[in-house]
Amino acid sequence: MPGGESIEAASGTRLLDAAFDAGALVPTICGGKGECLACVVTRVTPYGALSPPDRLEKKALGSALILRGERLSCQAKIEAGCVVTIPAKPGGPGAAASPGNDIESSSEL
Ligand code: FES
Repeated sequence: MPGGESIEAASGTRLLDAAFDAGALVPTICGGKGECLACVVTRVTPYGALSPPDRLEKKALGSALILRGERLSCQAKIEAGCVVTIPAKPGGPGAAASPGNDIESSSEL
């Protein structure tokens, strides 16, 4: 995948933790508490490869951004192999419109 990285992570691992373990730069201000929205990723494929958004994530992002495919990497857990994009221009929700770096995760189930 051009410009992308592949990482392996166990099923149930927070996407943010998997990215950090692999050395991927995902911004965080709140330390993974779901408060800063800096860790947004997008274009998760296939749909459903991450845990469903929980109440905190739904409240933080709102349904419109979730429907656009944006997720908080500090809240979403890997459930299956997937590809996500870390926006090149961090800045929380909506930053996904900018091109970014893809990371591909293969999950150990
Ligand atoms: S790291 Fe702050 S919301 Fe995810």
